[in-house]
Amino acid sequence: MADEQARREQAVTDEVVASFAETKDERLREVVQSLTRHLHAFAREVRLTQEEWEAGIGFLTRVGHITDDRRQEFILLSDVLGLSMLTVGINAPASAAATESTVFGPFFVENAPQVQLGGDIAHGAKGRPCWVSGTVTSTDGAPIAGARIEVWEADEDGLYDVQYEGDRTAGRGWLAAGPDGEYRFWSVLPSSYGIPDDGPVGDLLAATSRGSMRPAHLHFKVDAPGYRTLITHIFVAGDEHLDRDAVFGVKESLVVDFVEHGPGTAPDGKEMAGPWSSVQFDIVLEGSA
Ligand code: BEZ
Ligand code: FE
Repeated sequence: MADEQARREQAVTDEVVASFAETKDERLREVVQSLTRHLHAFAREVRLTQEEWEAGIGFLTRVGHITDDRRQEFILLSDVLGLSMLTVGINAPASAAATESTVFGPFFVENAPQVQLGGDIAHGAKGRPCWVSGTVTSTDGAPIAGARIEVWEADEDGLYDVQYEGDRTAGRGWLAAGPDGEYRFWSVLPSSYGIPDDGPVGDLLAATSRGSMRPAHLHFKVDAPGYRTLITHIFVAGDEHLDRDAVFGVKESLVVDFVEHGPGTAPDGKEMAGPWSSVQFDIVLEGSA
Protein backbone atom coordinates (compact mmCIF):
# COMPACT_ATOMS: atom_id res chain seq x y z
CA MET A 1 0.00 0.00 0.00
CA ALA A 2 1.22 3.45 -0.86
CA ASP A 3 2.82 5.27 2.06
CA GLU A 4 0.42 8.18 1.63
CA GLN A 5 -2.63 5.86 1.93
CA ALA A 6 -1.21 4.21 5.09
CA ARG A 7 -0.41 7.61 6.59
CA ARG A 8 -3.95 8.90 6.02
CA GLU A 9 -5.53 5.78 7.51
CA GLN A 10 -3.30 5.95 10.60
CA ALA A 11 -4.13 9.65 10.97
CA VAL A 12 -7.86 8.80 11.34
CA THR A 13 -7.08 6.26 14.07
CA ASP A 14 -4.73 8.66 15.88
CA GLU A 15 -7.30 11.45 15.77
CA VAL A 16 -10.06 9.27 17.24
CA VAL A 17 -7.77 7.83 19.95
CA ALA A 18 -6.69 11.38 20.87
CA SER A 19 -10.34 12.52 21.05
CA PHE A 20 -10.76 10.30 24.12
CA ALA A 21 -7.66 11.63 25.87
CA GLU A 22 -9.60 13.84 28.28
CA THR A 23 -11.81 11.00 29.57
CA LYS A 24 -11.83 11.42 33.35
CA ASP A 25 -12.37 7.78 34.19
CA GLU A 26 -8.99 6.15 33.55
CA ARG A 27 -10.39 2.69 32.92
CA LEU A 28 -13.01 4.00 30.47
CA ARG A 29 -10.26 5.87 28.61
CA GLU A 30 -8.16 2.71 28.36
CA VAL A 31 -11.11 0.67 27.09
CA VAL A 32 -12.40 3.13 24.45
CA GLN A 33 -8.94 3.93 23.13
CA SER A 34 -8.05 0.26 22.84
CA LEU A 35 -11.42 -0.50 21.25
CA THR A 36 -10.77 2.23 18.66
CA ARG A 37 -7.31 0.89 17.83
CA HIS A 38 -8.50 -2.71 17.46
CA LEU A 39 -11.65 -1.82 15.49
CA HIS A 40 -9.63 0.30 13.07
CA ALA A 41 -6.96 -2.39 12.74
CA PHE A 42 -9.71 -4.89 11.87
CA ALA A 43 -11.16 -2.60 9.15
CA ARG A 44 -7.69 -2.06 7.70
CA GLU A 45 -6.78 -5.75 7.85
CA VAL A 46 -9.87 -6.91 5.90
CA ARG A 47 -9.96 -3.73 3.72
CA LEU A 48 -13.61 -3.26 4.77
CA THR A 49 -15.82 -2.23 1.83
CA GLN A 50 -18.70 0.25 2.10
CA GLU A 51 -21.19 -2.59 1.39
CA GLU A 52 -19.67 -4.73 4.14
CA TRP A 53 -19.86 -1.82 6.58
CA GLU A 54 -23.56 -1.44 5.72
CA ALA A 55 -24.16 -5.19 6.09
CA GLY A 56 -22.49 -5.07 9.53
CA ILE A 57 -24.67 -2.18 10.65
CA GLY A 58 -27.76 -4.01 9.31
CA PHE A 59 -26.74 -7.17 11.20
CA LEU A 60 -26.26 -5.35 14.53
CA THR A 61 -29.56 -3.53 14.00
CA ARG A 62 -31.34 -6.89 13.64
CA VAL A 63 -29.57 -8.16 16.76
CA GLY A 64 -30.97 -5.14 18.62
CA HIS A 65 -34.49 -5.49 17.23
CA ILE A 66 -34.89 -9.13 18.25
CA THR A 67 -33.57 -8.51 21.78
CA ASP A 68 -36.14 -8.04 24.53
CA ASP A 69 -36.50 -9.05 28.18
CA ARG A 70 -36.95 -12.73 27.22
CA ARG A 71 -34.34 -12.93 24.47
CA GLN A 72 -30.78 -11.53 24.57
CA GLU A 73 -29.36 -11.80 21.08
CA PHE A 74 -26.31 -9.65 21.96
CA ILE A 75 -25.22 -12.18 24.59
CA LEU A 76 -25.82 -14.98 22.10
CA LEU A 77 -23.61 -13.13 19.61
CA SER A 78 -20.90 -12.77 22.24
CA ASP A 79 -21.30 -16.50 23.01
CA VAL A 80 -20.87 -17.71 19.42
CA LEU A 81 -17.88 -15.38 18.92
CA GLY A 82 -16.24 -16.95 21.98
CA LEU A 83 -16.12 -13.56 23.73
CA SER A 84 -18.21 -14.83 26.64
CA MET A 85 -15.86 -17.77 27.25
CA LEU A 86 -12.79 -15.55 26.91
CA THR A 87 -14.24 -13.12 29.46
CA VAL A 88 -15.04 -16.01 31.82
CA GLY A 89 -11.44 -17.21 31.47
CA ILE A 90 -9.95 -13.76 32.08
CA ASN A 91 -12.03 -13.24 35.22
CA ALA A 92 -11.69 -16.71 36.72
CA PRO A 93 -7.93 -17.16 36.52
CA ALA A 94 -6.75 -20.71 35.99
CA SER A 95 -6.40 -22.64 39.24
CA ALA A 96 -5.53 -26.30 39.09
CA ALA A 97 -7.18 -26.83 42.47
CA ALA A 98 -10.63 -25.30 41.90
CA THR A 99 -13.52 -26.36 39.67
CA GLU A 100 -13.36 -24.68 36.27
CA SER A 101 -15.92 -22.11 35.15
CA THR A 102 -17.84 -21.91 31.94
CA VAL A 103 -20.49 -19.74 30.26
CA PHE A 104 -23.56 -18.63 32.20
CA GLY A 105 -25.98 -18.73 29.25
CA PRO A 106 -29.33 -16.96 29.03
CA PHE A 107 -31.56 -19.48 30.84
CA PHE A 108 -30.82 -18.82 34.53
CA VAL A 109 -33.88 -17.58 36.43
CA GLU A 110 -33.78 -15.83 39.82
CA ASN A 111 -35.94 -17.21 42.63
CA ALA A 112 -36.08 -20.82 41.47
CA PRO A 113 -37.70 -23.10 44.09
CA GLN A 114 -35.63 -24.55 46.91
CA VAL A 115 -35.42 -28.32 47.19
CA GLN A 116 -34.19 -30.22 50.23
CA LEU A 117 -31.14 -32.50 50.06
CA GLY A 118 -32.30 -35.52 48.06
CA GLY A 119 -35.26 -33.58 46.58
CA ASP A 120 -36.26 -33.40 42.91
CA ILE A 121 -35.60 -30.33 40.75
CA ALA A 122 -37.41 -31.82 37.72
CA HIS A 123 -40.83 -30.53 38.82
CA GLY A 124 -42.33 -32.40 35.87
CA ALA A 125 -39.56 -31.74 33.29
CA LYS A 126 -39.56 -34.66 30.84
CA GLY A 127 -36.63 -37.08 30.82
CA ARG A 128 -34.95 -40.09 32.38
CA PRO A 129 -34.51 -39.59 36.14
CA CYS A 130 -30.95 -38.69 37.10
CA TRP A 131 -29.44 -38.78 40.61
CA VAL A 132 -26.79 -36.07 41.04
CA SER A 133 -24.50 -36.04 44.08
CA GLY A 134 -21.15 -34.76 45.30
CA THR A 135 -19.50 -32.44 47.75
CA VAL A 136 -18.63 -28.76 47.95
CA THR A 137 -15.22 -28.10 49.46
CA SER A 138 -12.57 -25.40 49.51
CA THR A 139 -9.26 -25.84 47.70
CA ASP A 140 -7.73 -27.14 50.97
CA GLY A 141 -10.39 -29.84 51.21
CA ALA A 142 -12.54 -28.29 53.96
CA PRO A 143 -16.28 -28.96 53.49
CA ILE A 144 -18.37 -25.85 52.79
CA ALA A 145 -21.56 -26.48 54.74
CA GLY A 146 -24.57 -24.49 53.53
CA ALA A 147 -23.10 -23.57 50.11
CA ARG A 148 -25.96 -22.44 47.89
CA ILE A 149 -26.16 -24.65 44.80
CA GLU A 150 -28.39 -23.44 41.95
CA VAL A 151 -28.98 -25.91 39.11
CA TRP A 152 -30.86 -25.64 35.83
CA GLU A 153 -31.14 -27.77 32.71
CA ALA A 154 -32.98 -28.48 29.49
CA ASP A 155 -35.49 -31.37 29.36
CA GLU A 156 -35.29 -34.40 27.07
CA ASP A 157 -36.60 -32.29 24.16
CA GLY A 158 -33.67 -29.89 24.64
CA LEU A 159 -35.83 -27.06 25.94
CA TYR A 160 -35.63 -25.03 29.16
CA ASP A 161 -38.89 -24.31 31.01
CA VAL A 162 -38.69 -20.61 29.97
CA GLN A 163 -38.81 -21.66 26.30
CA TYR A 164 -42.32 -23.03 26.75
CA GLU A 165 -45.51 -20.95 26.74
CA GLY A 166 -46.72 -20.06 30.23
CA ASP A 167 -44.72 -19.65 33.41
CA ARG A 168 -44.14 -23.25 34.53
CA THR A 169 -40.92 -23.77 36.53
CA ALA A 170 -39.27 -27.11 35.76
CA GLY A 171 -35.73 -28.46 35.60
CA ARG A 172 -34.37 -25.89 38.01
CA GLY A 173 -34.00 -25.26 41.72
CA TRP A 174 -31.55 -24.61 44.49
CA LEU A 175 -30.38 -26.49 47.55
CA ALA A 176 -28.01 -25.92 50.45
CA ALA A 177 -25.06 -28.26 50.93
CA GLY A 178 -25.25 -30.34 54.11
CA PRO A 179 -22.93 -30.19 57.17
CA ASP A 180 -20.16 -32.14 55.42
CA GLY A 181 -20.50 -30.09 52.23
CA GLU A 182 -22.48 -32.92 50.66
CA TYR A 183 -25.27 -32.44 48.16
CA ARG A 184 -27.66 -34.75 46.32
CA PHE A 185 -30.79 -34.31 44.26
CA TRP A 186 -32.91 -35.85 41.54
CA SER A 187 -33.09 -34.22 38.11
CA VAL A 188 -33.47 -35.52 34.56
CA LEU A 189 -30.66 -36.68 32.29
CA PRO A 190 -29.63 -33.53 30.35
CA SER A 191 -30.03 -33.51 26.56
CA SER A 192 -28.06 -31.75 23.85
CA TYR A 193 -29.90 -28.85 22.24
CA GLY A 194 -29.61 -26.12 19.65
CA ILE A 195 -29.15 -22.52 20.77
CA PRO A 196 -31.83 -20.16 19.38
CA ASP A 197 -31.01 -19.94 15.65
CA ASP A 198 -34.07 -18.20 14.23
CA GLY A 199 -32.47 -14.74 14.45
CA PRO A 200 -29.39 -12.96 13.08
CA VAL A 201 -26.99 -15.10 15.14
CA GLY A 202 -28.52 -18.21 13.55
CA ASP A 203 -28.05 -16.58 10.12
CA LEU A 204 -24.38 -15.97 10.97
CA LEU A 205 -23.90 -19.62 12.00
CA ALA A 206 -25.58 -20.83 8.79
CA ALA A 207 -23.55 -18.47 6.57
CA THR A 208 -20.32 -19.72 8.15
CA SER A 209 -21.24 -23.44 8.04
CA ARG A 210 -21.24 -23.66 11.82
CA GLY A 211 -23.64 -25.72 13.90
CA SER A 212 -25.90 -24.40 16.66
CA MET A 213 -25.75 -27.46 18.96
CA ARG A 214 -24.59 -27.54 22.57
CA PRO A 215 -23.59 -30.87 24.14
CA ALA A 216 -25.85 -32.10 26.96
CA HIS A 217 -25.08 -30.35 30.25
CA LEU A 218 -26.38 -29.43 33.67
CA HIS A 219 -25.76 -25.84 34.86
CA PHE A 220 -24.44 -25.00 38.34
CA LYS A 221 -24.04 -21.70 40.16
CA VAL A 222 -22.46 -22.17 43.57
CA ASP A 223 -22.15 -19.42 46.19
CA ALA A 224 -20.76 -19.41 49.71
CA PRO A 225 -19.57 -16.49 51.86
CA GLY A 226 -15.80 -16.02 51.56
CA TYR A 227 -15.59 -17.88 48.24
CA ARG A 228 -15.69 -16.87 44.59
CA THR A 229 -19.02 -17.61 42.95
CA LEU A 230 -18.61 -20.56 40.61
CA ILE A 231 -20.60 -20.62 37.37
CA THR A 232 -20.17 -23.85 35.51
CA HIS A 233 -21.79 -26.89 33.90
CA ILE A 234 -21.12 -30.59 33.90
CA PHE A 235 -21.22 -32.19 30.46
CA VAL A 236 -22.34 -35.73 29.66
CA ALA A 237 -19.31 -37.80 28.59
CA GLY A 238 -19.77 -39.36 25.16
CA ASP A 239 -22.05 -36.62 23.80
CA GLU A 240 -21.48 -36.30 20.04
CA HIS A 241 -21.33 -32.48 20.22
CA LEU A 242 -18.56 -32.19 22.85
CA ASP A 243 -15.93 -31.20 20.27
CA ARG A 244 -18.05 -28.50 18.58
CA ASP A 245 -20.04 -26.68 21.21
CA ALA A 246 -21.59 -23.64 19.47
CA VAL A 247 -20.49 -21.41 22.38
CA PHE A 248 -17.06 -22.98 23.17
CA GLY A 249 -18.03 -23.83 26.76
CA VAL A 250 -16.58 -27.35 27.04
CA LYS A 251 -13.61 -27.97 29.33
CA GLU A 252 -12.25 -31.45 29.79
CA SER A 253 -12.46 -31.33 33.59
CA LEU A 254 -16.20 -30.70 33.32
CA VAL A 255 -16.96 -33.77 31.19
CA VAL A 256 -18.33 -36.40 33.55
CA ASP A 257 -19.64 -39.97 33.30
CA PHE A 258 -23.38 -40.23 33.69
CA VAL A 259 -23.85 -43.89 34.64
CA GLU A 260 -26.90 -45.73 33.27
CA HIS A 261 -28.88 -48.05 35.55
CA GLY A 262 -31.72 -50.48 34.99
CA PRO A 263 -34.78 -50.79 37.25
CA GLY A 264 -33.80 -51.29 40.89
CA THR A 265 -32.99 -49.46 44.09
CA ALA A 266 -31.55 -45.93 43.83
CA PRO A 267 -28.96 -44.53 46.32
CA ASP A 268 -31.72 -42.89 48.36
CA GLY A 269 -33.59 -46.19 48.67
CA LYS A 270 -36.20 -45.28 46.06
CA GLU A 271 -37.44 -48.22 43.97
CA MET A 272 -37.03 -47.31 40.31
CA ALA A 273 -39.43 -49.06 37.95
CA GLY A 274 -37.58 -47.94 34.82
CA PRO A 275 -34.08 -46.90 33.71
CA TRP A 276 -32.32 -44.05 35.49
CA SER A 277 -28.88 -42.42 35.53
CA SER A 278 -26.51 -41.13 38.17
CA VAL A 279 -23.57 -38.76 38.22
CA GLN A 280 -21.11 -37.74 40.89
CA PHE A 281 -19.39 -34.37 40.75
CA ASP A 282 -17.29 -32.81 43.50
CA ILE A 283 -17.17 -29.02 43.48
CA VAL A 284 -14.13 -27.09 44.72
CA LEU A 285 -14.46 -23.36 45.39
CA GLU A 286 -11.67 -20.82 45.38
CA GLY A 287 -11.50 -18.43 48.33
CA SER A 288 -12.30 -14.81 47.43
CA ALA A 289 -9.37 -12.46 47.66
C1 BEZ B 1 -26.87 -22.44 27.81
O1 BEZ B 1 -26.09 -23.30 28.11
O2 BEZ B 1 -27.93 -22.42 28.42
C2 BEZ B 1 -26.54 -21.48 26.70
C3 BEZ B 1 -25.30 -20.86 26.70
C4 BEZ B 1 -25.01 -19.96 25.68
C5 BEZ B 1 -25.94 -19.69 24.69
C6 BEZ B 1 -27.17 -20.33 24.69
C7 BEZ B 1 -27.47 -21.23 25.72
FE1 FE C 1 -27.60 -24.70 28.84
